[in-house]
Amino acid sequence: MRILITGGAGFMGANMIPYLLRTYKDIEIVNFDALTYAGNLESLAGVADDPRYRFVKGDIADARQVDAVMKGVDLVINYAAETHVDRSIIDARAFIETNVNGVYNLLEAVRQQGTPRFVHISTDEVFGAVLEGESDEESKFEPRSPYAASKAAGDHLCHAYAVTYGVPVIVTHSVNYYGPYQFPEKLIPLFTMNLLEGKKVPVYGDGLQVREWIFTEDHCRAIDLIVQKGLVGEVYNIGTGYRVPNLEITKKLIALTGRDDSAIEYVADRPGHDRRYALNSTKLRTQLGWEPQMSFDEGLGLTVEWYKAHRTWVDRCRTGEYKDYYQKQYGERLKTV
Ligand code: TYD
Repeated sequence: MRILITGGAGFMGANMIPYLLRTYKDIEIVNFDALTYAGNLESLAGVADDPRYRFVKGDIADARQVDAVMKGVDLVINYAAETHVDRSIIDARAFIETNVNGVYNLLEAVRQQGTPRFVHISTDEVFGAVLEGESDEESKFEPRSPYAASKAAGDHLCHAYAVTYGVPVIVTHSVNYYGPYQFPEKLIPLFTMNLLEGKKVPVYGDGLQVREWIFTEDHCRAIDLIVQKGLVGEVYNIGTGYRVPNLEITKKLIALTGRDDSAIEYVADRPGHDRRYALNSTKLRTQLGWEPQMSFDEGLGLTVEWYKAHRTWVDRCRTGEYKDYYQKQYGERLKTV
């Protein structure tokens, strides 16, 4: 089975590709990634020499490249996305290119080439702020950031292609995930690194915004199950029910790194900051039998330990120095399609 992982050099891909290679023997994985600031092949150094794995540099926003790389593929899992809300507030263009046009290109290629299955990874942010209760798979989209709007547009296209052309697509909405290899701009790795380096952590507004969290390995298992047992045309929410204000996470990170509350710096709130997300993931649990296995405290502890042990990885991410690493490690393989 040939699996195309788009955005495989990003945070989730860097966890999912080794997971798949570990779990299944007879698979072939093509990692198609544009290597934007968030893509880092160094994260995949452990599988780079696996004969079942191949990297192809390319962009889902380029229809010609997508057509070429999709040839002979049995399953596409689309992780490729611009994901950082703060960046989308500064400039949304790349979000529209990747999260809307890119998804359109993938859907068109799936439709024209008759690709058997397409799993599209999306987010709880499409439902907007949920002040009380939970969003289920039928809830109305009310995106409030350019990022969330671009993801919602991609999800609508998936739905339209399933209904209009019978394209075999499954959409997932996931809560915030955390774990090894997350780019250090997101809450958990940013705060962890700042605390380890003796810096302050910028808490937006009052820090009482609530997010729901899932550890990478639990998310990989959820996607795997959806690939195996999920029904085409369906949507699955992936959540743990573990919902917590940012300030509480900040305090846990302070404790794990031996700092104190003086490290907290309250800064101006993010414009349009969604107060709370909460997903109902009953469908995934009852229909497909998934349950999270990692407790938040254990997962957070593991994550902090990982960042402590991977400072070079973080430094290279920050400076973009890993681009040299690509050249050295991959050389000839860094070709576009
Ligand atoms: P983030 O990791 O950016 O994910 P998202 O906004 O997609 O949920 O942020 C998680 C939460 O942490 C969110 O409520 C914003 C908040 N936050 C801060 O308070 N300070 C920061 O520096 C960052 C990056 C996030």
